[in-house]
Amino acid sequence: MQIHYFADDAKLASRLANLTSCRAFPMEIKHFPDGESLVTTHSPVRDDVAIIHSLDRPDQKLIHLTLAADALRRAGAAAVTLVAPYLAYMRQDALFKAGQPISQRAIGRLLGSLFDRVLTVEAHLHRVKSLNEVVPSRLESRSLSAAPMIADWLRKKAANSLLLGPDQESSRWIEEIGARSGMKNTVGIKHRLSDRKVRVKIESVHGLTRAVIVDDIASSGATLAETAHALRNKGIRDLSAVIIHPIFAVGALSRIRRAGVETIVSCDTVAHPTNRIRVAPLLAAALSDQP
Ligand code: R5P
Repeated sequence: MQIHYFADDAKLASRLANLTSCRAFPMEIKHFPDGESLVTTHSPVRDDVAIIHSLDRPDQKLIHLTLAADALRRAGAAAVTLVAPYLAYMRQDALFKAGQPISQRAIGRLLGSLFDRVLTVEAHLHRVKSLNEVVPSRLESRSLSAAPMIADWLRKKAANSLLLGPDQESSRWIEEIGARSGMKNTVGIKHRLSDRKVRVKIESVHGLTRAVIVDDIASSGATLAETAHALRNKGIRDLSAVIIHPIFAVGALSRIRRAGVETIVSCDTVAHPTNRIRVAPLLAAALSDQP
């Protein structure tokens, strides 16, 4: 197996290469004057390869991946695994309004047609049991749980805090992290009013004054900020957040900080200054598992 990567993912690619004892090779992206991209591999390509590309800024990156899959196969790859630590387009997972697509299914089908399997971390899958139902790939595609590494981090840094998920959808990882870390845990009730507006209600903070909010994605920051306000109103004084995918749209971080979240920590599925929890060991183990 060998690993191919674009410049953005160089750090993670090198960690993965070390952990799997594979070699990692950069791929080049050139932009034509009309805005089209040209992707090139300059390395000898083996039979069995992985390409690592996290799908923040997805619209551009999906084109690069489409071209990369074709380039790798033409250069000799028979099996191509996509390692996308963050998989975009998973939240639009139902027909919310007539005339819209089910983006999760459309993008899943595209990836399944390009790659032999897809490995990711905590894909936003709430209406299906496995990534394979969304990405119909030849080999088994998997969404890996970040709960064990988050629980480890919290045990060391935030014992005696309430562990809180903003909504029912977060209960899957909140319950697992709670069981592993021994922290008291609960989830809030969230209503989304618009792209940047949500309402969050918290029933009880179990008599604690410290809390850690854990969520899979922070995008506009609305969910974290409103959860923070609700917790403060319930008497929480010391507030942190752990985010699996730190997407953070413009203005999101300052909105979350203004709401009183003092410490913000993330997994390195997307490169960001808040990265503290490394996902390479998780991905390396899955990559080494022969499907
Ligand atoms: C939603 O279901 C997710 O789990 C996150 O809570 C959501 O994507 C966060 O988005 P935002 O930061 O825009 O509120």
